[in-house]
Amino acid sequence: MIKNKWNNDNIKNELNLFYDLYKHKPIANNDGGMKFPHMFLMWYLVKQISPRYIIESGVWRGLGTWFIEKASPRTKIICLDPNPQYRIYTSENAIYKSEDFSILNFDIDPNETLVFFDDHQNSLERIKQCKIKNFKKLIFEDNYPFDQGDCYSIKKILSNENYVMDINGIKKNYQKNNEDYNFLVENLAVYQEMPPIFIPEFTRWNNKFSQYETPSPLLNEIELQNYSSIISEIKDYTWMCYIELV
Ligand SMILES: C[S@@+](CC[C@H](N)C(=O)[O-])C[C@H]1O[C@@H](n2cnc3c(N)ncnc32)[C@H](O)[C@@H]1O
Repeated sequence: MIKNKWNNDNIKNELNLFYDLYKHKPIANNDGGMKFPHMFLMWYLVKQISPRYIIESGVWRGLGTWFIEKASPRTKIICLDPNPQYRIYTSENAIYKSEDFSILNFDIDPNETLVFFDDHQNSLERIKQCKIKNFKKLIFEDNYPFDQGDCYSIKKILSNENYVMDINGIKKNYQKNNEDYNFLVENLAVYQEMPPIFIPEFTRWNNKFSQYETPSPLLNEIELQNYSSIISEIKDYTWMCYIELV
């Protein structure tokens, strides 16, 4: 399993460009959606891959769609969200559907498609659905560690520990599942947790970042001071990952 397809130096080289673009985003408040750390990583990956098609599952206000367009204007976007009433930005490069990814037939070349999941669904099921549909390049935004988050994430499964699901504030413990772990090990050709901008002392859940395995950050504390307008968003990082299936 390759874990270092994308290199921190290359990612960091794009940071200033994105920092300027971020100042011009059309939706000022994206609470409930991606903040600077994940928006940057998604924009970076889309810019590098520049796929012919993107399926964006989980659209919210549409700010992610706007950044996808900026990263790769040639890309046709298929936006899926059962709650289109929350959308503020609508793209002319996108088609919009409210059905779930699992039940749709996509008449597009899977080899030229990137699938971006930010829909808080079970990521193992999403991977199985992608295998059926032949999609191989995937991003998961909600890649929660074993003891946090409302969905079954790749990070939870690969941690190979008993894990927790937090549904509407109620935490429930589950036993680790070796079958799921083995399935991922057999099916992930690339699994890379993308780097945080900076690792603060505390996570968004106010526990310590140091208790989790996290890739090296892009910036140190002194460098971070050059990005003052986004420091309040720095905690909004949940190990977003890039995946290629075998
Ligand atoms: C965290 S928001 C997405 C934020 C968005 N990526 C952004 O930052 O601009 C999660 C979204 O997933 C949507 N959602 C819930 N279930 C879904 C499903 N089964 N398929 C696709 N989207 C779903 C919700 O309606 C919500 O808009």
